[in-house]
Amino acid sequence: MDFRAAEWPLAGSPKRISGIELNQICDIADLAREDPDVIKLWIGEGDLPTPDFIREAALAALDAGQTRYTYALGVPALRQALDRYHKRHWDVDVGADRFSVTAGGVQAIMQAFQAVLNPGDEVIVPVPAWPNLIEIVRILGGKVVPVPYRVAENGGFRLDLDDLFAAVTEKTKVIAINSPSNPTGWIMPREQMSAVLDFARSRGLWIVSDEVYAHFTYDGTLAPSFLELATPTDRLMITNTFSKNWCMTGWRIGWIIFPAGMQTVFDNLSQYNTTSVATFVQHAAVAALDKGDDFIKLLVQRSAQGREIICNALDNLPNVRVFWPQGTFYFFFSVHGMNSGYEMARKILRESGVGVAPGSAFGPGGEAYLRVCFAVDPALIQEGADRLVAFLGRSGS
Ligand SMILES: Cc1ncc(COP(=O)(O)O)c(C=O)c1O
Repeated sequence: MDFRAAEWPLAGSPKRISGIELNQICDIADLAREDPDVIKLWIGEGDLPTPDFIREAALAALDAGQTRYTYALGVPALRQALDRYHKRHWDVDVGADRFSVTAGGVQAIMQAFQAVLNPGDEVIVPVPAWPNLIEIVRILGGKVVPVPYRVAENGGFRLDLDDLFAAVTEKTKVIAINSPSNPTGWIMPREQMSAVLDFARSRGLWIVSDEVYAHFTYDGTLAPSFLELATPTDRLMITNTFSKNWCMTGWRIGWIIFPAGMQTVFDNLSQYNTTSVATFVQHAAVAALDKGDDFIKLLVQRSAQGREIICNALDNLPNVRVFWPQGTFYFFFSVHGMNSGYEMARKILRESGVGVAPGSAFGPGGEAYLRVCFAVDPALIQEGADRLVAFLGRSGS
């Protein structure tokens, strides 16, 4: 199947734009977004509303007239709150002057790459990977060099650092890491982070580290962060978002931590991309950071329940390879004999009313997989699991 938007070149778009892949997750979701009978486990978001204390902070900011242009890097109160948040959770003093507030995690990634990528530069990306990461690099004229995760006997994913380092050429500019990883649920061990950082230093490479799922782990610890290992002047950019921790996907707010000395670069990038994120949204984000730790705990506990339900249910099927994700809120599984995850996702939607994401949406190596988001009501994930077990039980017999 050709997922490219074939008509675009006629409009004169440059090839790197006309060649953008359609987002297959949205493609499947568009088939039944409004259908109340479909259990929607395709998109990466929890089903809880944004907590009251955040909504109230937004309303208070609106009432207080926080509706005008503001600092491109973000309001000082928010950058200070970000600083406190990182000190509290990672015990690192970043400093408010190393943050830039962006329109979501996706825009944080866009700006991080805008800051360092020249056309033709290579970016090493472990795959399967979140599609936006890959397409952002392409939009900016960079070249994605995929490094497939290896799959262990137990179905678990692991990254072989020899594979990663062997992919480096004289054109390599960035190593992009997403840990905990969407879609695989893999978490990069601290020792690997340290080795990657040493390697990047020795070669003068950048690391772009997407750490949006850092809290979503299932062993009671926070996922390791490059922040804990790096110095302020390492070539490291960390991208993050309010979307996942506080159920704020629609608010469109995230952040970047950039190296000391790059404030003007990010001030300009923010200025010319968005001229800042909505001011009242930034004030609500302060409340999320300062008062939202308990909510994160609740969300992670809820996800842990969802993880138990879906993994246990599918574990019993002979034709499904189950690996319990270490992190994120995604279950990425392969079905024996399945050739196209895309066709399978459509069939599952049609025949059992469950919306899953096709693994092919996540680039090379994802074709044989399906992804389910389990950050939802346990009763709903149970119903989804029951339907999937019935469907996959039938198709496996
Ligand atoms: C790995 C990863 N990074 C970043 C994001 C960005 O999220 P948002 O743009 O909603 O903040 C997502 C969202 O699904 C993601 O999965």
